[in-house]
Amino acid sequence: MNDVQEISVALGTRSYPIWIGDGLIAQSERWRDSVRGRHVLLISDENVAPLYAAEVLKTFDRHAASKLEFPAGELSKSFEACEAIFDALAEMGASRDATIVALGGGVIGDLAGFAAACWMRGIAFVQIPTTLLAMVDSSVGGKTAVNLPQGKNLVGAFHQPRAVVIDTSTLVTLSDRELRSGIAEVVKYGAIANAEFFVWLEANANALLARDAHALAHAIAVSCRQKAGVVARDETEQGERALLNFGHTFGHALEAVSGYGQLLHGEAIAIGMCLAAKLSATMNLAPREDFDRLRTLLRTFGLPTDIPGSLDIEAVIAAMRLDKKNISGRLRLILWRGIGRAEIVGDVAEDDIRGVLSAP
Ligand code: NAD
Ligand code: GLY
Repeated sequence: MNDVQEISVALGTRSYPIWIGDGLIAQSERWRDSVRGRHVLLISDENVAPLYAAEVLKTFDRHAASKLEFPAGELSKSFEACEAIFDALAEMGASRDATIVALGGGVIGDLAGFAAACWMRGIAFVQIPTTLLAMVDSSVGGKTAVNLPQGKNLVGAFHQPRAVVIDTSTLVTLSDRELRSGIAEVVKYGAIANAEFFVWLEANANALLARDAHALAHAIAVSCRQKAGVVARDETEQGERALLNFGHTFGHALEAVSGYGQLLHGEAIAIGMCLAAKLSATMNLAPREDFDRLRTLLRTFGLPTDIPGSLDIEAVIAAMRLDKKNISGRLRLILWRGIGRAEIVGDVAEDDIRGVLSAP
């Protein structure tokens, strides 16, 4: 087994470790102490549970443990799924010292985390992310949520996990399309604040696509370290953390309007980052060449960079108006000054947005 890397999310008494290593699920002696209390509920989905749940459950031989499996996909981030979790916790007799363990991608992590935030006003949870996207983004930082038909993540809570256990060997079973979706969030870290990492990604794209273990572990560690720093400085997104949403206002709107599940989250974010970079160039905030470099890198990774032609532009703009970053009805977007230099821009004119959405 390779070395295990440990990164801390520094939040005072709520600080927690992110462990990154090959084969970590089976190395439960490293992380089992993060699971406190008598009751453990393992939440997973129908694809991931058959692959990894049995190994995870071995860790809980001293607990009263149960497992709940949901259909794979965005539709499981729902109140209905949440209710099923509450029913299971009630049936177990779970009290305040119970722990929820999320085993899966961002859908399972967000859903399980939200349920953990709500049950008895907040119980412990541990993230075991199994998609690249969840490893580099959603499992870290405590954003939890479910969706409404009107938009993604509209109901949620900040609730930090006790630990994040990243077993990179689980990526072996992930499809190429899902891997590429996660790479979009990796590119985001370079785009918003780490020009050096952006250059590394340009140089190592083929190694990542070939699933080179060292390249993947490096990309995961750089991403987690960057996110851990941002979360430690701005846990509840009063400022800097909003930069992590580069491309997301466009992306979330594209996901909602195209129908959840049509575009993968990372695919929507890849298109959204291109739109944000194009808008930045249109508004003379950033050089057009940096937009070209971003688009080229995303295309090298096999990610989409253009808005699907069938989408109704006005519906996309309407969905963007629901974004949580907006203030007093004014659109606030994360744009950039160029690679590695994202910033919050308030009061963006809808006509400018319409312009980049409509441009061929
Ligand atoms: P996902 O959870 O739907 O997983 C993608 C697919 O991969 C699913 O079909 C799943 O069953 C399958 N899968 C997962 N791990 C696997 C493995 N190791 N082997 C084989 N199949 C596997 O999608 P995702 O891309 O991981 O997450 C997207 C979600 O994350 C969205 O809901 C998004 O809003 C959320 N998100 C949250 C945050 C946050 O900060 N909380 C950040 C980014 C994204
Ligand atoms: N994924 C954005 C954030 O965690 O803030």
